[in-house]
Amino acid sequence: MKKNDVLTAEITAIGSNCEGIAKVDGIVCFIPFSLLGEKVEFKVLKVNKNIAFCKLLDVLTPSEDRVRPLCKFYTKCGGCQLQHVRQKAEFKIKSNIIKDCFKKIAGLEVEVNPIVKSENEYGYRNKMQLPIRSINSVNQIGLFYENSHRIVEIDECVIQKPIFNDVIKAFKLFIAETQISCYNDESNAGLLKHVVVRDVKGKLLIIVVINGKELPFKDRLIDILNGYFEEYSLILNENTKNNNVILGNKFTVIYGQGYYYDEFLGIKYPVFPESFMQVNDSVKERLYADVIKRLELNENSVVIDAYSGAGIMTAMMAKTAKKAIGIEVIPEAVKAGDELAVLNKLSDKMTNICALCEEVLPDVIAKEKAENGSISVVLDPPRKGCDDKVLSAIIKAMPDKIVYVACSPQSLARDVGILTGSLAWTNGELKRVENFVPRYEIESVTPYDMFPKTKHVETLVALKRV
Ligand SMILES: C[S@@+](CC[C@H](N)C(=O)[O-])C[C@H]1O[C@@H](n2cnc3c(N)ncnc32)[C@H](O)[C@@H]1O
Repeated sequence: MKKNDVLTAEITAIGSNCEGIAKVDGIVCFIPFSLLGEKVEFKVLKVNKNIAFCKLLDVLTPSEDRVRPLCKFYTKCGGCQLQHVRQKAEFKIKSNIIKDCFKKIAGLEVEVNPIVKSENEYGYRNKMQLPIRSINSVNQIGLFYENSHRIVEIDECVIQKPIFNDVIKAFKLFIAETQISCYNDESNAGLLKHVVVRDVKGKLLIIVVINGKELPFKDRLIDILNGYFEEYSLILNENTKNNNVILGNKFTVIYGQGYYYDEFLGIKYPVFPESFMQVNDSVKERLYADVIKRLELNENSVVIDAYSGAGIMTAMMAKTAKKAIGIEVIPEAVKAGDELAVLNKLSDKMTNICALCEEVLPDVIAKEKAENGSISVVLDPPRKGCDDKVLSAIIKAMPDKIVYVACSPQSLARDVGILTGSLAWTNGELKRVENFVPRYEIESVTPYDMFPKTKHVETLVALKRV
């Protein structure tokens, strides 16, 4: 097999990125946008030893699970991978990925609960990130092609909240009218880099990321935005670095109040441009409610909320528990958490620590365990999962309950493997432990469809000390 070969084969498995897999002459071919059982024609793009990366050319025998994608840019833009699949089959793919990760990475056989549905399959995303680039002196606004900095110019995105389509229109008009300079990755020149938008129950936080300090024509931009939106804030973000990080550290509000309040389960919280928020409101609410339920809190409970973001879950825990301690590294998110504690009259029961979990959690957990005996821990880390210092400290303190919320099934399986004891570090290598005696029982594994139509899935795992 070599590059540019055109072949046909049957899809016999689905990979961890939701792509179809076929085996040809002993080579495993990854073919995105194909489904189990389909006979497909594909082109080989790259062969790497026993693995080939391929492009789907034609579906010769379509699966019954195949549907017509809604988006006209589907397969070009890197945002969605599962628009061509019926919802029931999408759920099966996602559940199987979680199950496989536990088995292959941690050697654990787990039962996966039915996936918790999103209220909407489309139009659910409350956050949009639009790159803006100047390519060959032509200004472009849209979304990136998969694994690239080339732009697919779009006028709508079907998984985003429909109101964001007007943001695209407004910025297209602004750029065309003012001919403002747009960013080029190769020269690291040009001003406009990204627009990031958040919807907080119909009110918008519009963040303009610039490769500089001043936004020219800003009054004209406000004029244009006023024509589209009732209530919004316009915030300038400076990011002069040439890397893959979208937001820089400096935010300046140039129109509106710069944040909005939201409310859930009796907790009122501010949403700032820089603090982490789950992207699907309906699923977020189910997930948070389930985290609280799984913890089985009472007035004597002490909970450590590691990777706590703006402290929404910490506050929900503090409402019932004796004490809830959040640990989060972004200062602005911690500030939002402090404001939330005051706003909800929880300051005496809720503490927000601004630090890296790996640096402070070992001391915090040891102290709380010594003082209170029984404690619980919530883990909601970024994609790469928990630092080993965090996991080691947890294993040492042995909290009664651990609730782990994860957006990466791979990191989740690895970390749960370490916590239960099926995996352990030996000579700098993470290895399976044969005949291990579990430290924790896996009470439940529940997927949440936080990101319908994409390859991503959120998972909640509840662990109980054996
Ligand atoms: C997936 S978010 C979860 C936030 C929060 N639990 C929620 O539901 O809104 C992960 C959070 O961890 C923070 N974070 C990332 N690495 C960290 C670290 N090493 N120590 C502490 N916080 C970290 C991020 O800033 C982010 O707010």
